[in-house]
Amino acid sequence: MKLASAVDLTPFNTLALPGKAARYLKISDPAQLTDPALKDEQRFILGGGSNLVLTGDFAGLLLHMAIPGKRLLQEDDEAWYIEAGAGENWHDFVQWTLAQGWPGLENLSLIPGTVGAAPIQNIGAYGLEVGECFHSLSAWDFEKQAFTTVDRQACRFAYRDSLFKQQGWHLSGRMAIVSVVFRLAKAWQPNIRYTDVAQELAAREIAAPTPQEIANAIIAVRQRKLPDPAQIPNTGSFFHNPVVSAAEAERLAADFPNLPRYPQPDGRVKLAAGWLIEQAGWKGKNLGPVGMYEKQALVLVNRGGANGDDVKRTMAAVQAEVRARFAVALTPEPMFL
Ligand code: EPU
Repeated sequence: MKLASAVDLTPFNTLALPGKAARYLKISDPAQLTDPALKDEQRFILGGGSNLVLTGDFAGLLLHMAIPGKRLLQEDDEAWYIEAGAGENWHDFVQWTLAQGWPGLENLSLIPGTVGAAPIQNIGAYGLEVGECFHSLSAWDFEKQAFTTVDRQACRFAYRDSLFKQQGWHLSGRMAIVSVVFRLAKAWQPNIRYTDVAQELAAREIAAPTPQEIANAIIAVRQRKLPDPAQIPNTGSFFHNPVVSAAEAERLAADFPNLPRYPQPDGRVKLAAGWLIEQAGWKGKNLGPVGMYEKQALVLVNRGGANGDDVKRTMAAVQAEVRARFAVALTPEPMFL
């Protein structure tokens, strides 16, 4: 096995931040992971780099997951079970399932990144989280030096969260996800309650949409609001939507009657970080080469030539101003390396 050295990571992160990996290996076959030489390295496991803030050079070994493959694993009366390699492009995979006649993932169309990264932060959009269609995953456990299967319950999915983040396993490179199995129920129901999606379908005069029509509507909504990382480097939503107590939400709503509020099953209330950031005056505003996007204030963008310090500076300024105005803390969604 031959490791590359001093590899430029700028093309491998969608914020286009500069940094080099001291050692680098592209993984296109799970068997590569079993090489004992990898065990004692400080590791970072990279997928599509669309949820990453690269703060500078990385002194360890970067494993770039590129394992391909997608197939129908099994089918029963209730569901299709579809397996995909960790390195498959997420959006292409979703479109492929739709073309095969296996609906269920259409609401997650056009999310950047890879199949293997999807469960780590439980990607979600337009009323669906990937955990709802997840069956299990297979991963190489560097500590145990064995492949392991992690089922849905063990993943402990929550809002933009899973076991892999909770345990710090992802950042410590403990496990490399090699493939994911999705369970797509045959009793399909359109999930079109989200206002933007409902409005887009109404504008298209589609009352009973097919899964592909829902995907097309979502692609259009995303393209209108979210910058394409290939044109304007970004990582999608930069902060979590904060979840506060009901009392806290009421206190805020008394001062700010237009505050969007989304009651959660546990009684708490999710707020819209994009709204808070816009009200704090940050929509379309820059600090140096890093700003918040003019069409969606929750998306932090690299206007060109930014580095990790520039991102941290803008992040801190936005957090400080939202805290000063609303006494609400914003936590970043991407991981920092
Ligand atoms: N809003 C503003 N100003 C803005 C942006 C949003 O006032 O600049 C308001 C909107 O008017 C709306 C509310 O905030 O009332 C929510 O906005 P939106 O529907 O655009 O969704 P979001 O909460 O900003 C979340 C996810 C997105 C996902 C969309 C659609 C998080 C952190 N973000 O964004 O996920 O695509 O909902 O489901 O939960 C991502 O995680 O990278 C991501 C793009």
